[in-house]
Amino acid sequence: MFIINNNPLKFNRKERACLKASLMLIGSMSLAGLAYGHGDVTPQGLDTEGLPEISKDVLSNPFREDAEHGEYYELAAELGKKGYAGNCANCHGIEAMSGGLTPDLRELTEWDDEYYIGRVVNGTGGGMPSFKDNLDRSAAWAIKTYVESVQ
Ligand code: HEC
Repeated sequence: MFIINNNPLKFNRKERACLKASLMLIGSMSLAGLAYGHGDVTPQGLDTEGLPEISKDVLSNPFREDAEHGEYYELAAELGKKGYAGNCANCHGIEAMSGGLTPDLRELTEWDDEYYIGRVVNGTGGGMPSFKDNLDRSAAWAIKTYVESVQ
């Protein structure tokens, strides 16, 4: 039994501060666990050989079947699967099924393309790193194509 001040429910100021600090510490440890607890999170990059280079000005998925490079849809989805497994799955879940702690990427629609590419390039500032140096644009869109293929 925890008895502080002879009163189990009332904490004085100092004790409250200490309790708060411990809770914050536990909180940040579990966040770190979320980011690092699922094995190696070192981004693997993606070799996009066979896919055309995509310019930074493109803000919607160019590999979608009815899009500009739709003829690459199959290859993009296949490469994207690899890219997803090596760069995203450790946080967003295997086969794009989120365990609930991170957003389920299948819920993004084609209207969210610009949002998607922004998050992947810049990170979110809230637990997700930037992939600017690891994934080029065709890799990032290939991953989106894969996620759409399992939607
Ligand atoms: C280290 C863990 C981690 C990795 C690796 C990671 N993400 Fe994330 N991602 C997050 C977290 C946590 C959030 C939500 C919280 C936030 O906004 O920071 C998020 C949010 C997102 C969002 C915004 C979704 C929404 O509904 O708001 C997108 C898009 C996204 N991630 C795509 C990706 C892609 C694509 C990859 C792989 C290239 C990836 N993420 C890799 C942790 C990660």
